[in-house]
Amino acid sequence: MKIAIVGTGYVGLVTGTCFSEMGIDVHCIDVDSQKIEDLKNGIIPIYEPGLDEMVIRNYKAARLQFSTDLSAVLNDVDVVFSAVGTPPDEDGSADLKYVLEVARTIGKSLTKYILVVTKSTVPVGTAQLVKQVIQEELDKRGLSDLVFDVASNPEFLKEGTAIVDFMHPDRVVVGVESDRAKNVMDRLYKPFTMNNYRMIYTDIPSAEMIKYAANAMLATRISFMNDIANLCEIVGADVNMVRAGIGSDNRIGKKFLYPGCGYGGSCFPKDVKALIQTAKDKGYEMQVLKAVEAVNEYQKGILFEKLSEYYNGDLKGKKVALWGLSFKPKTDDMREAPSLVLIEKLLEAGVKVKVYDPIAMEETKKRIGDKVEYAKDLYDATLECDAILLVTEWNEFRLPSWSVIKKLVKTPLVIDGRNIYNGNDLRMIGFEYYCIGSK
Ligand code: UDX
Repeated sequence: MKIAIVGTGYVGLVTGTCFSEMGIDVHCIDVDSQKIEDLKNGIIPIYEPGLDEMVIRNYKAARLQFSTDLSAVLNDVDVVFSAVGTPPDEDGSADLKYVLEVARTIGKSLTKYILVVTKSTVPVGTAQLVKQVIQEELDKRGLSDLVFDVASNPEFLKEGTAIVDFMHPDRVVVGVESDRAKNVMDRLYKPFTMNNYRMIYTDIPSAEMIKYAANAMLATRISFMNDIANLCEIVGADVNMVRAGIGSDNRIGKKFLYPGCGYGGSCFPKDVKALIQTAKDKGYEMQVLKAVEAVNEYQKGILFEKLSEYYNGDLKGKKVALWGLSFKPKTDDMREAPSLVLIEKLLEAGVKVKVYDPIAMEETKKRIGDKVEYAKDLYDATLECDAILLVTEWNEFRLPSWSVIKKLVKTPLVIDGRNIYNGNDLRMIGFEYYCIGSK
């Protein structure tokens, strides 16, 4: 089995590398020649635990190859996965130009049967568009009878645990419209899905919808819990207890019930927006998802509100230490990171911000330059500060030496946006402590 993966972003690179780890010959293709050269030299463009050694190992074994030219390998592979970006348009809908460009390239060079699988998150109907574009190009070349298939195989991996997620999926969703395509996907995923019990075959529009619905559901859980957390504060309940209480109901389950200072990342914000826009285009209003977005926007400002309340709105000239910048731990990804919104609000209010993140400092510098001060470590960030704001729950923030910090800060105040500390413990050693929906 030989495959090509177009796009060496998060999804494409992880998918290609994991398939090659299972002994499949993989060509990873990207238009960015610098990225391809870097990958050949073992330089990985993203931070993802375990990925670099897996890339290098499989590249050395020649199971994993990198190039910029899809047409050169196209007729040597059985499957092409399209994992190119679908950046949001101005109105929030997914921009399909890269996806359709891949389809056009395929149609221009194809000479034999191939299965074209879309892995990017794309609106319902995209696989049909891909099919149309390939067919148009084949028609132009007088190859109208050449048989090919399209399929949809959305990816559910999470940044930071991408390899484990790919290797041990809860399920693999595949939208197909022919037995031939189904057989190819069965063979390809066999190593990951013992006895195929995790394969879910659907029609193509449903597979495309499943990805959006899954992300929208998870985002909804988070916004729902953030709403509940805010209410808990008002009525004197503790959201941590509420979470444990409701999560023990099997119908609800324990995961993705953690309140915080908002969700970010490359998927939830984009996919929620795109689904709202898809519905709007068809004359339907996604009322729940609009509320999910609104709650998330509010929540990204909640640490600022708490700080402002503490200082009675008088924030000018105050200094804060901001711990954690990436949208979640174990990644340097700053896309839609709540920290960026918080930083903007703090700067607007005249606050001096000193930030620290174990991995995402460089990414942050690229975005906001020297608007903030960059600390050497988490302690350095707290020097003379009027508050510590915890935004991302990296492990190294979990058990810092509070006695050291107490001597560094001006005001021993911690505002915890991810509920990782025990408020009573901190209060015992002289800190004031606030978190989300609890004391
Ligand atoms: C998500 C989906 O989980 C994944 O299946 C999909 O393929 C891509 O989008 P990812 O964006 O990598 O993955 O991160 P995830 O771990 O899902 O977290 C997303 C955001 O939600 C983070 O900002 C995180 O802090 C927040 N979150 C998550 C919460 O606020 N509370 C929770 O209980 C869980």
